[in-house]
Amino acid sequence: MKHFFSINQLTNQEIYRIIQNAWKYKKENATVSKQLFAANLFFEPSTRTKMSFIVAERKLGLEVLDFHADSSSLKKGESLYDTVKTFESIGANVAIIRHESDDWINELASGINIPIINAGAGKKEHPTQCLLDLLTIYEEFGTFKNLNIVIVGDIIHSRVAKSNAHALRRLGANVYLSAAPGFEDDSLDFPYVSIDEATQICDVVMLLRIQHERHTENNQHVKYLEQFGLTKERKNKMKKNAIILHPAPINRGVEIDNDLVECDQSRIFKQMNNGVYVRMALLTHVLQEWGIIDENLVKE
Ligand code: CP
Repeated sequence: MKHFFSINQLTNQEIYRIIQNAWKYKKENATVSKQLFAANLFFEPSTRTKMSFIVAERKLGLEVLDFHADSSSLKKGESLYDTVKTFESIGANVAIIRHESDDWINELASGINIPIINAGAGKKEHPTQCLLDLLTIYEEFGTFKNLNIVIVGDIIHSRVAKSNAHALRRLGANVYLSAAPGFEDDSLDFPYVSIDEATQICDVVMLLRIQHERHTENNQHVKYLEQFGLTKERKNKMKKNAIILHPAPINRGVEIDNDLVECDQSRIFKQMNNGVYVRMALLTHVLQEWGIIDENLVKE
């Protein structure tokens, strides 16, 4: 069985099914009637992803195994592989992993016999953020087809940009990128537009934080908000039914004007709420794929 590392592993049909199930879980409870343990192994800081996985697991009735890298045997030199293998050995049924490395999955690809879900891999992939963004967009527009969607910000250091750009294009959206000099990613084959053009033509404006923790070069931009971010003037030129997304954490006043974070067109906190339900849907999808539960074990 395959670990869930990339959004590209899901067919369009599977993505739509996860969206539908997330919708269902918003309205009605779903619990797994079998004792199962979920290990949340975060080797990089997280607020939303970690906490919404915990809420999703508890809502599904899973036992939650928490883990703190700083007080674990990693400090004694234990490897990532041996850490995950330990959780498998003590009875975890699924492992949720975030790690700063782009390619941590390679270390775990063989030898680990429980499903692994990628909760963020370096600059490479953030598939559960992608799924919750897809749910948020689908709830708003009922389709992805022919939507103009721009991803704005520190594209080259962003795992969210990579997961979202490919999935949205595959689902029929017209995807654009907008970035300050030095933040473009030449490996992504998508058109770049200015922030002024983007905000006028787009149905979805997806903003990204500058991810200083991943910078090796010195990219200082003065007046970043005025030059490259979402100001009130630009928001006023957006289509009236266009929405603003941001995976968060947000640097208020840098990529977005402070007053726009909770404005009428912002769906930023709705994204966080959707994260719980989409992770419930993904957990049941993965557990079913691995034969750990069958559909009858999910009681609604
Ligand atoms: N969007 C996101 O991944 O947030 P956290 O880093 O807080 O999990």
